[in-house]
Parts: sequence; C-alpha cells; structure tokens
Amino acid sequence: MYIIPGPSSQVLAGNVAHAMQCRLAGTEFFRFPDGEQYLRVPDIDDHVVIIQSTPADSDYITLLQLIDACDAAGRIDVVIPYFGYARQDRRFKQGESVSARALARAITADRVFTINVHNRGVLQHFDADAADLDAAPVIGAHLASMKTETDGSDNPVIIAPDKGAIELVRSVAEYLGADFDYIEKTRLSGDDVAIKTKKLDVAGKDVVILDDIISTGGTIVKTSDLLRENGADRVFAACIHPVLARNAATRIFSAGIEGIMATDTLDRSVSVISVAQLIADAI
Ligand code: R5P
Repeated sequence: MYIIPGPSSQVLAGNVAHAMQCRLAGTEFFRFPDGEQYLRVPDIDDHVVIIQSTPADSDYITLLQLIDACDAAGRIDVVIPYFGYARQDRRFKQGESVSARALARAITADRVFTINVHNRGVLQHFDADAADLDAAPVIGAHLASMKTETDGSDNPVIIAPDKGAIELVRSVAEYLGADFDYIEKTRLSGDDVAIKTKKLDVAGKDVVILDDIISTGGTIVKTSDLLRENGADRVFAACIHPVLARNAATRIFSAGIEGIMATDTLDRSVSVISVAQLIADAI
C-alpha cells in the first residue's frame, strides 16, 4: 500500500505513512505558463491511499488529478481531511448550487473518508463507500493532557458557538467529564454573525469554545465577548478545521483568547492535534 500525499496534506500524509509503516509515494507537479497544473505520480502500488484536503478550488482540482493519475491501482482510498464547500450543503435561496453535493459527485474511488465533515448528508453523494471519521476523542485527549500539564484542577466548560457544534461539544465534554453549553448564532454575512444573549454558568471558569471550522474567526470573537460578559476566566478556541481565512488569527487573539488549538486536517501553525492515527486506524 502506498500513501499518496496531496500538496495540501503533506505533513499529515507523512504522519499517516509513519503510523502505518507504509511507503509514501512521490508526486511531481508544476504549473504551465497559462496557470494549468501538471501532476504525475510516477510510482503506484495496487492499493493507494490519496490524502488531500481541499481548502481552495485548486486543491480540489489537484485531488481529481491525483485520483486520475492512480487509475491503474486496484484499489483507491481517498481521504479528504478538510472537505471545502461543505457548508453549502443545501439550497438557502432558490437557484443556488448545492456545492458540497456537486463536488462530492465528481469524486470516484473505492472508499472516501472525511473528518467531521460539516454535514454528513454529503456522504451519500460520493461515488464510493464513504465514511466520516470523528476527531472528538482526539480533541478530548488533547484537552485532558493540557489539564494535566497545567494545574490539574477543574475541567474547562466546553461551549458550542452554534447548534451545529452541539454534538461535537457534547462528545468532547463527555470524554472529559466536563460541563458544556451552547449558544444560538445567526449568520449575517460571510464574516459577520450575531449571537443570542444567554446566561451561561461560566463565572470564574476556564472555557473552551469548540467549533468544527474556524474561518474568519467572527463566530469565536462574538462567543468570547458573551463569555466575558458572563464572567469567564480564561477563554480558549478549538476546532477541527483551522481554515483561518484572512486575519482570523489576529481577530481571535485581539479578542483576548488565550490560545487556538486545532487538528492537522489543515496544515497551520495551530494544528497541534493530529488525526494521523485516526486515519491510519480507519484505513
Ligand atoms: C458554520 O456553521 C461553521 O460551523 C462555523 O461556525 C463557521 O464556519 C465559522 O465561521 P467564522 O469563523 O467565519 O465565523
């Protein structure tokens, strides 16, 4: 079995190959003068595992090229740790593209794995056996180790910044034996949200705001403001997918957040929690 590292998931793919004690294939790619990408996988095995997140359109094209380059393999597994466009999972207005469905339909493989994809409903649209892996236990284990490394006192309260994050937050809180709560959010625009004022039992406590994605950071900042109004002590931000678009990290730190922690579904400086073993176990 060969692990085929997509350019957007090189570190994660390397760690999966290490965890599975299997070979990491080489890939060659460059851009032609007109901007089109050339891609070659010179050496493949009968079973290949392609690992490529798709935060940008070009990453998605690369993924299609990788699958095509490996078409002589007897078995192709595709891991899309961060599946871009997943939030456009339905038609919010008449005539819109259901982008998540459109992109999923174009992926053909034997198996597809995503990680905490925004809406698991998208899995039915892949032309493959598709499964979503849950990184909640990995996040829970990381938070538990942080607690041990610091003063070992009380668990933090885990907060879901919208209803969509409740299941993830519940799961991590149960792992830790911690309290959790949620707030209600309305999206106003691509980078602005409104949240409903709510009484939260966080006075004097450490809090972790946990979401599936941090994109512009607007959701984290507004949630943090509410937590401060409720007397929270230290506030941390955590997520599965650290998209961190534009100046998101600055916005978050400027709001007084102590730290950002995320998994390595996207290769960012805050990606301190690895999902490599989770992927290795699934494969
Ligand atoms: C949306 O439903 C997602 O779960 C996240 O809450 C959202 O992507 C966060 O976006 P932002 O960081 O731009 O507020």
